[in-house]
Amino acid sequence: VRLRGKAAIVTGGASGIGLAAVRAMVAQGAAVVIADRDRVAGENAARTLAAAGSRCVFAPCDVTSPDDWTAVVGTVQREFGTLHVLVNNAGIPLVAPIENTSLDDWRRVMSVNLDGPFLGIRAVLPAMRDGGGSIINVSSAGGLVGAPGMAAYNSSKGGLRLLSKCAAVEFARSGLPVRVNSIHPGLIMTDSARRTVEASRAGHSPDEAQRQIAALIPLGRPGMPNEVADLIVFLASDESAYITGAELVVDGGWTAQ
Ligand SMILES: NC(=O)c1ccc[n+]([C@@H]2O[C@H](COP(=O)([O-])OP(=O)(O)OC[C@H]3O[C@@H](n4cnc5c(N)ncnc54)[C@H](O)[C@@H]3O)[C@@H](O)[C@H]2O)c1
Repeated sequence: VRLRGKAAIVTGGASGIGLAAVRAMVAQGAAVVIADRDRVAGENAARTLAAAGSRCVFAPCDVTSPDDWTAVVGTVQREFGTLHVLVNNAGIPLVAPIENTSLDDWRRVMSVNLDGPFLGIRAVLPAMRDGGGSIINVSSAGGLVGAPGMAAYNSSKGGLRLLSKCAAVEFARSGLPVRVNSIHPGLIMTDSARRTVEASRAGHSPDEAQRQIAALIPLGRPGMPNEVADLIVFLASDESAYITGAELVVDGGWTAQ
């Protein structure tokens, strides 16, 4: 039980990698607030986990809204009385060449993928000041390298990588016991990733698109959401007490080539 006594917020916890992280964290004894803008999926997930004996509640949240963040932190303190872990996982993809990317599209991606984690970090700090904490920012392998059609998304994720490092150094230097790290998944098989792969390989069948992508990965296959969740549990736990400001890839070797 590696997260016994810890309380966490997981944004985008209603599906995909976020939901896998919620499941893995409650399995290790954490109490978790699922913060997501999808009320139906979020309530369902929290209800199912609570019925199985886990400490899990849902809080409606659009990560781009400072008011929603205030409400989510209020929920975790009311329900669990403490807060140690924030997983900034909510994010949206965009596949579009720069020429066809409108300013509105660009800002929508930045606002969810970069403003969201910034607002989250700011909102949780007062609650973590005394007991300490770990903030895990879900960036992407796309936050480390460029790719055609990915300017908005990869820029937002590259920004999140440096937001993590700045926050890590700032907090450590000021004696604030809050660690901040970014994680960089490669292709992870969630519904949303499946749609993004198909959009990026327009003109190919979904099976062919998946085969083409898998061929680019040294381990020869996409990752599974639980394989990212395991890294999140490690960074949330005290096993990673000396790790801050780090960027950890979980990508089957893709960025090592
Ligand atoms: N799946 C991959 O291959 C992959 C690879 C690298 C990085 N990532 C990153 O991992 C994270 C999760 O990806 P996923 O594939 O599980 O996606 P997903 O679409 O399955 O899940 C995203 C969740 O975030 C929620 N969400 C979206 N916008 C929100 C907002 N404004 N406020 C609150 N909640 C919001 C959605 O409702 C959904 O539940 C994202 O940040 C994504 O960029 C995914």
